Amino acid sequence: PEAITVQELANRMAEKGADLVKTLFKMGSPVTMTQTIDQDTAELLVTEFGHNIVRVSDADVDLAADTVEDAEDTLQPRAPVVTIMGHVDHGKTSLLDALRGTDVVRGEAGGITQHIGAYQVTLKDKSKITFLDTPGHEAFSEMRARGANVTDIVVLVVAANDGLMPQTIEAINHTKAAGVPMIVAINKVDLDSANPQRVRQRLLEHEVMVEEMGGEVQDVEVSALKKTGLDQLIEKIQLQAELLELRANPNREAEGTVIEAKLDKGRGPVATVLVNRGTLKVGDVFVVGAESGKIRALVDDKGRQIKEAGPAMPVEILGLSGVPMAGDPLQVVENEARAREVAEYRAGVIQNKRTTNAPASLESMFSALK
Ligand code: GTP
Ligand code: MG
Repeated sequence: PEAITVQELANRMAEKGADLVKTLFKMGSPVTMTQTIDQDTAELLVTEFGHNIVRVSDADVDLAADTVEDAEDTLQPRAPVVTIMGHVDHGKTSLLDALRGTDVVRGEAGGITQHIGAYQVTLKDKSKITFLDTPGHEAFSEMRARGANVTDIVVLVVAANDGLMPQTIEAINHTKAAGVPMIVAINKVDLDSANPQRVRQRLLEHEVMVEEMGGEVQDVEVSALKKTGLDQLIEKIQLQAELLELRANPNREAEGTVIEAKLDKGRGPVATVLVNRGTLKVGDVFVVGAESGKIRALVDDKGRQIKEAGPAMPVEILGLSGVPMAGDPLQVVENEARAREVAEYRAGVIQNKRTTNAPASLESMFSALK
């Protein structure tokens, strides 16, 4: 098969050569811009960047360079994706549960809670917010290292009695590194020992200047326990989301990101996927990391089987060949043969990577590229 240099491929794809090199490195193929890659690798890379492959002849690969970004007129508003972070025991889970209680749809459904790693709340005004159930900070940075920047907004939870703790500072640093706007939720203000003002002051030491201190970072006092301040928090999330003008094209083959995955005793491999763009449908053939499959069922965060899931919607998928990893990208492809081909190639690459002396973690690989 014909080979192509990374630079030439980048030109054809209308992408930066450096981005291709980075992605190849993450895929386990460390090459430079002027080196050649084989057709299989080129095709994989093309798929990875969301382009379509048009085989002109067996030996030649031509690429449609129009699918990296969706055309302006295809974009529609989408819900913000919010990740809650903070120190252990500062009330992340309690706050998520309290916010979940504001979901009007859930109320109607009778309040059956399905625990998946992400859920979506529908507000009174029909708008939606997607919440990611606090992944550990490691998971957050690992997902970022793998290019899976799924979070639009971080809500930093700080307990008003404890104040800033090591993981609070870690969360601040991760959020800054990701370039994601932050909203500070000062929790547990119901306690006598609560001192929200001290939290605001300590935040200054870490260059987080909240509104109350004359800065631009929104802050809000809440009590997850007494359910106070929740409406204000939601308002601030909506305000921040508006500024971000979040949009995606719902009318295309779906792309998503794995939030969590496991082997379920009864159901086999199951993954929670957040749809980034397009609409994921039952029957869709897909590749996810080194796995592939055909969507047998889609289950929403309320445990209901649904037929399709659009942008910013978290959904559990069934029909996987195996268990993917958190942060793995999911892509719908044209047929099962293609899905298997890509998945097998990736599985080979991953095997390869394990046998070479590649950096130990994805995070270190990422920083090695800078
Ligand atoms: P990890 O997941 O272990 O990191 O903890 P977390 O941040 O999810 O905290 P969690 O929601 O489990 O809450 C920790 C403890 O704080 C629990 O005992 C909660 O009941 C309590 N708590 C959470 N929110 C509040 C609050 O607003 N007021 C008071 N008084 N207690 C709270
Ligand atoms: Mg928790």
